[in-house]
Amino acid sequence: MPDQYAVIGNPVDHSQSPLIHAAFARQTGEDLEYGRLLAPKDAFCASANDFRTRGGRGLNVTLPFKGAAFRYAAFLSERASAAQAVNTLKFERGVIFGDNTDGAGLVNDLTQNLGRVLSGQRILLLGAGGAARGVIEPLLQQQPAQLTLANRTPDKAQRLARSFGGALEAGDYAALAGRQFDVIVNATSASLAGELPPLPPGVFARGALAYDMMYGKAETPFLAFARSQGAARLADGLGMLVEQAVESFFVWRGLRPDGAAVLKQLRQLQNA
Ligand code: ATR
Repeated sequence: MPDQYAVIGNPVDHSQSPLIHAAFARQTGEDLEYGRLLAPKDAFCASANDFRTRGGRGLNVTLPFKGAAFRYAAFLSERASAAQAVNTLKFERGVIFGDNTDGAGLVNDLTQNLGRVLSGQRILLLGAGGAARGVIEPLLQQQPAQLTLANRTPDKAQRLARSFGGALEAGDYAALAGRQFDVIVNATSASLAGELPPLPPGVFARGALAYDMMYGKAETPFLAFARSQGAARLADGLGMLVEQAVESFFVWRGLRPDGAAVLKQLRQLQNA
């Protein structure tokens, strides 16, 4: 029987991960199957245990279970510890290993697919929830000139910044007035609700890149705002989704598939 993997979440039927990992398996010739696992909201551990004891080799973890997976793992990578969330579980010789590939996915999409050098850039990260936390450490490793966190509830952003030892500054949206950034990443859940984080006008520097972690057929309010503000480059989170999958595949199989080729296929499907 091929090695078994799955994405666990609730809901999970919309997940593109099975499509992506099937493409990676074809590309690399690895013998594996990747499915979807719908877990009851209060039964993450039981569902993951059941999958593991049936011989499952690894899970991707999506909403709302990334915190539960963090607590479930016996061993954690450094990046999962920093993120306090796990999106990749690996089961090997009875050991549960937790990793987080979301940040690497974002950074690889920015640097490789979008060709952006992040070192020396002024980066603004919007939001202070799990999605923002997961990408802070990998962004800092790129040595930006500055990393600024903005959140509707500034206390939350300040607490998050302190937990990274003051390597980044944090505040509310109003404090951004008169400032400019080279890369602005939307890690809020505002786009899900069709809302726009209250960014003041003029925050996009000349040549700025606007990145929304959300993706879908329609342009998000954040990307529409960025366009109207003259941002030079717009990107949604589909590339991050594919690149975090590349990293998960590497954690499980020791091979790094070509994410760009699969991203191209997904874009064609999205635009069809
Ligand atoms: P996730 O794990 O996806 O990050 P979360 O922990 O619920 O989800 O965090 C959601 C983030 O989106 C928060 O930073 C939230 O801001 P608050 O902390 O002030 O609640 C932010 N957010 C949600 N809707 C928003 C909106 N309409 N405008 C600005 N920020 C928004």
